Amino acid sequence: MPDIDNFVQMAYVSNPLREPILRSAIQALQFPSGSRGLDAGCGIGLQTLLLAEATGPAGHITGLDLSPEFLDRAEEMVENAGLSERISFREGDVNRLPFDDDTFDWAWSVDCVGYAPIEPLPLVKELARVVKPGGSVAILACSSEKLLPGYPLLEARLNATSSGIRPFVKGKKPESHFLRALGWLRDAGLEEPTVRTIAGDAYAPLTDDLRSALIALFQMRWPEVESELTQEDWAEYQRLCLPESPDFILNHPDYYAFFTYSMFHGKVAK
Ligand SMILES: C[S@@+](CC[C@H](N)C(=O)[O-])C[C@H]1O[C@@H](n2cnc3c(N)ncnc32)[C@H](O)[C@@H]1O
Repeated sequence: MPDIDNFVQMAYVSNPLREPILRSAIQALQFPSGSRGLDAGCGIGLQTLLLAEATGPAGHITGLDLSPEFLDRAEEMVENAGLSERISFREGDVNRLPFDDDTFDWAWSVDCVGYAPIEPLPLVKELARVVKPGGSVAILACSSEKLLPGYPLLEARLNATSSGIRPFVKGKKPESHFLRALGWLRDAGLEEPTVRTIAGDAYAPLTDDLRSALIALFQMRWPEVESELTQEDWAEYQRLCLPESPDFILNHPDYYAFFTYSMFHGKVAK
């Protein structure tokens, strides 16, 4: 399963960029110790582990994903971390959650809601359905980044390609864009909708981990862009963004990048 292996590899390698941001998000949410939470679209369980740490030995987290292969990896990681008692995984669809109403104290979902072809509003309603009255629903996704300091035009053109605007797709309704998620929370009947922007950064001299994470991020952000770029921009992309290039931008002594996650949060009516 080459695609699964590639996804898993990219998820691990890029994690040093995401983990500090997602730890800050978890800290901000202050999930009660001993609470029961849902990690919807948990992938290989990278945040499921962080959530279990946050809720302590009496807490319990359920990670749900459509992909049995990702769940296998997640289970392996949790077993290695010795946290199998506090975490369980369930194969399922976020659009039809296999849980009764009011099962969890809170629900959390990262880089899943807002990704085509998932329709955001039904999904947010599903998350709200399985959370107890007064509990919280948090949805997060990567919302911006600046990765090519000194080359704003090239970066803007890369970000205007079909890959660059993902998970948004051309022709989609503006209301379906992740940055409009306050409306999804409101329409799902959640109270006190809020949003918080959490930033991360990386700058020279880069550690080996951050360098590998940024290389993976370049590959994930801008795959298959050649056909949508001019020859000149494609040449500039190869010069700056390929590790084998002598001008690879991560080698620059002044390299600096930042990226943000947006965390939308609401409460289930009491
Ligand atoms: C970009 S990954 C994010 C994984 C994880 N939340 C993270 O941030 O590392 C998106 C995840 O959503 C899962 N997914 C996509 N559609 C889904 C659906 N309808 N129901 C459940 N999971 C879904 C995918 O299998 C994948 O694991």
